[in-house]
Amino acid sequence: MTNPHKVHVKTFGCQMNVYDSERIAELLAHLGYAETAAVEDADVVVLNTCHIREKAAEKVYSDLGRIRAIKERRRELGRNTLVAVAGCVAQAEGAEIVRREPSVDVVVGPQSYHRLGALLARANAQRVPMIDTELPEKDKFAALPARALPVSGAGAPSAFLTVQEGCDKFCTFCVVPYTRGTEYSRPVADVEAEARRLVDRGVREITLLGQNVNAYHGAGSDGRPRSLADLIGRLSRLEGLKRLRYTTSHPRDMRDDLIAAHRDEPKLMPYLHLPFQAGSDRILAAMNRKHTRADYLALIKRIRAARSDIALSTDVIVGFPGETEAEFEATLALLNEVSFAQAYTFKYSPRPGTPAAAMEQLPDDVKDRRLQRVVEVVEASQTAFNTSCVGSVLPVLLERPGRHPGQLVGRSPFMQSVHVSADSSFCGHVVEVEILAASANSLTGTLTSAT
Ligand code: 5AD
Ligand code: SF4
Repeated sequence: MTNPHKVHVKTFGCQMNVYDSERIAELLAHLGYAETAAVEDADVVVLNTCHIREKAAEKVYSDLGRIRAIKERRRELGRNTLVAVAGCVAQAEGAEIVRREPSVDVVVGPQSYHRLGALLARANAQRVPMIDTELPEKDKFAALPARALPVSGAGAPSAFLTVQEGCDKFCTFCVVPYTRGTEYSRPVADVEAEARRLVDRGVREITLLGQNVNAYHGAGSDGRPRSLADLIGRLSRLEGLKRLRYTTSHPRDMRDDLIAAHRDEPKLMPYLHLPFQAGSDRILAAMNRKHTRADYLALIKRIRAARSDIALSTDVIVGFPGETEAEFEATLALLNEVSFAQAYTFKYSPRPGTPAAAMEQLPDDVKDRRLQRVVEVVEASQTAFNTSCVGSVLPVLLERPGRHPGQLVGRSPFMQSVHVSADSSFCGHVVEVEILAASANSLTGTLTSAT
């Protein structure tokens, strides 16, 4: 292959995939590949995929069809293209991907992408597809190059940092334990070193990521496990770092020290994403959630006692196998009772290999109707929360240009998108914004003074 090489990385799915894509782009930058937004110009195309619902997984194959056509066109021009499928579809489907789409050269799972460079080189040299879906014991992070200067989105002020991966909870609807493997927490010192590096390159807000982030139990310098609250305490000492967040949490792992951190740690933002999935105890048990409706409500009470203004967010699944109308109503009632600032709603999607996929399924029209109703309730509570902010002054971390010229978009402490008229030099700064208007999904405000 001749230089300069270009790589196009497309990300599906969750924030952890966004993080992994950054690490993949940095890894390939190390090997001489510059990132390109134009897939036609790419010598290597990486699809970092998601398997969480059927729709997400199927999108990958339609994309691969388009990429095959581009690969053929490039071949006619004498240019080689290597196509890699990474992420959770790669892990779940492995060699099946190459059978379905023979233009794929590399299939690499979320725990082995540190070997992507070698896999691409071997696929290129041997002209046979390389499949690596091992779930190794070894820490892939240790094998990756240290965080580089930003490859894309130069100097983005907000960054993700994976601190925990995998899941041992085995909710009956969920593929994550199969695609990301068993729970693993990175050592505190490694997380701290990466966070420092991010701050050095201009990052002001870090979101700590994990499929079960509040189960974090990474080793401290003495080898003994530390909690997520301990980790947050350490990271908050980093000078230059203004904000910390974490996601996603499981209600069962919400410990007292983490709740207290929301009261005591000023850098920890007053926002918590805490999925409850369903409002009925029978469905929660069928989901193997390991918490009841009453457990969840009691937990919310304790969290609000520690930090009364905290914005709560959640995930909800409607149409789980066997869900009755009354059980669905219990989900609506719980949404109304807590009044979430934000909620993500999903129609149950059977995933191969998970226990719930083998249960008797509800008809699609029932699921559709329930989704529509739950979306209405969520929109109302999001709008109510956002409207309650109108007239207040919020500190906003300005992150990127908005859609209109002269406009920047940032985040409030409560995770709301805030649109502000401001000079681009304010990007990366926390500024005071008076909130003038609200919708279900964002706020609009005006600059008062820079902090
Ligand atoms: N069907 C629908 N939604 C799902 N989720 C996870 N698995 C499924 C599935 N099989 C949702 C859960 C989870 C979020 C990331 O995706 O609500 O919290
Ligand atoms: Fe999708 Fe889950 Fe994998 Fe993230 S961890 S990419 S949400 S399947």
